[in-house]
Amino acid sequence: MPTTRHDVVQQLQARLAGVDSMDEAALEREHVHVLGRKAGLLTAALKSISQLPIEERRTFGAELNQLRQRFESAFEARRRTLSQAVRSQEDDVDLTMPARTTWSGGIHPVTRVIDEIVEIFHRLGFAVAVGPEAETEWLNFGALNFPPDHPAMDMHDTLYLDVGGDPPEGERMLLRTHTSPVQIRTLQASPPPVRVVIPGTCYRNDTFDASHAPAFSQIEGLAVDEGITFVDLKATLIHFAHEFFSPDTKVRFRPSFFPFTEPSAEMDIGCLLCGGSGCRACKGSGWMEILGCGMVHPNVLKSCDVDPERYTGFAFGMGPHRITMLRYGIPDIRMLFEGDMRFLSHFGE
Ligand code: DAH
Repeated sequence: MPTTRHDVVQQLQARLAGVDSMDEAALEREHVHVLGRKAGLLTAALKSISQLPIEERRTFGAELNQLRQRFESAFEARRRTLSQAVRSQEDDVDLTMPARTTWSGGIHPVTRVIDEIVEIFHRLGFAVAVGPEAETEWLNFGALNFPPDHPAMDMHDTLYLDVGGDPPEGERMLLRTHTSPVQIRTLQASPPPVRVVIPGTCYRNDTFDASHAPAFSQIEGLAVDEGITFVDLKATLIHFAHEFFSPDTKVRFRPSFFPFTEPSAEMDIGCLLCGGSGCRACKGSGWMEILGCGMVHPNVLKSCDVDPERYTGFAFGMGPHRITMLRYGIPDIRMLFEGDMRFLSHFGE
């Protein structure tokens, strides 16, 4: 406890010097400690004046009052500095920054299209079959009645795998160029009656441009049983077009050629954009090509040990990437591979 006037003034001056470095809590404690009405140091000192000899009262009183003013303005200045510091910290926060949100995943439009197509055939009694993406040359071509010199087998079109050694003809490995080898695998694994759809990724030695991708999806279909005719093929695929696009979609079949079907056809639908009058999307023809199809070639059945005199069947193959582009009017196949959220978010969750 300071005893002399000098001690009191010195102690208060020392405390006054400390005010400038106090934090908010210390500042409030110091305020009470010095200027508190009941037990503040300065308050007590001022109260003690009345006990001093009269000649000392005036000078000591003046000294204390001056100290009180200096404390008050020091407290005030320190408070102002502290609150400005808080405000400038707040200024460092970018209030325009987007809030952190939870991202919910979505189903890719091509996956959505594949699911829908598979579901339509599922309701017609088709099961789903799958096969490997690395395939033998025999299953990808030979068993499907491709002649040994078929241009599709060319290294320019097909991605062959180097698995070492020098495999004999037909046993070379490649990335399947279509889902058709799974027709063979299915028939070899289970005798007719067979009804399957086969979704999967296929690979070709293609450029990656607006309408080609070196990896793309296909959905294959195969139905083999006694008494299956071209009427079954047409009825099934027209039903599919009406379910998938719309009940009033126009459908036509054009003769075509595939080694593994005879006869072969291509199925078109009336252009989804212009309805048939001709536009850029259908190159003026009014039609859009949707899939290839045909009656399973007897040689294909034979390579699966299925008797072509007893059984017949139809097959078809379509490209979900292409169908997705036609359905949603997507101009460039690469948009379906880029994973750009600005594009994908149009397709919902
Ligand atoms: N495999 C053919 C392709 O990749 C598509 C195809 C056409 C599959 C006709 C079939 C079919 O099953 O019957 O181009």
